[in-house]
Amino acid sequence: METRGVKLTWLGHGTFKVQTPVGKTILIDPWVQGNPACPEKLKELEQLDVMLITHGHFDHIADAVALAKKHKPTVVAIWEICQWLASKGVENTVDMNKGGTEKVGDIEVTMVHADHSCGILDEGKILYGGEPCGYVIRFATGFTLYHAGDTNVFGDMKIIGELYKPNLACLPIGDRYTMSPREAAYALRLLGVRAVIPMHYGTFPILTGTPGKLKELTVDIEGLEILALKPGESLG
Ligand code: NI
Ligand code: MN
Repeated sequence: METRGVKLTWLGHGTFKVQTPVGKTILIDPWVQGNPACPEKLKELEQLDVMLITHGHFDHIADAVALAKKHKPTVVAIWEICQWLASKGVENTVDMNKGGTEKVGDIEVTMVHADHSCGILDEGKILYGGEPCGYVIRFATGFTLYHAGDTNVFGDMKIIGELYKPNLACLPIGDRYTMSPREAAYALRLLGVRAVIPMHYGTFPILTGTPGKLKELTVDIEGLEILALKPGESLG
């Protein structure tokens, strides 16, 4: 598919490195070092300008504090997670909430709903992490990406489709903690996107959903591209 100058690299699980048309590097859900799906050679980032965090589970924020201290990126998250990050010494946070849009460097980020949970495991205690979210990212060249975060399908995905018209969606399909291909196939009908990157599957044996199953359940959606990347592979 045509990504209009945007390069997306799947680092495995819910984590993506996105290079913008002007050469900024965005990391969505910083789980890199301990991420068993992430290829070794991609665990060190050369550059990091913006970090987007969908929720407080370890498999989405484990490297947030270390990477923020090392690279000093702008960090976007829901208010409660920003407070928690600040308490750990992270600077340059942009706290927001659902429905809000912020311009961060050369991208525009809208925080949208996700149907999941959001506790932060911190020294053996679960802290309230606000709510989980997804992001709609608009690039200066007109390309729009929807990263759903960890979520079940929800009816308001129809609103996300109609309001933001994403060109590409990253949707979880692993089952157990998120949608399986069954729910993701329904989500694709609500969103009306023409292209999807399946994510949050295969990292551990319990995440059993597969792109093949998603393909099987969406054969009737005309023109749909299921872009089944391998961890470390890029698009654009
Ligand atoms: Ni989660
Ligand atoms: Mn997760």
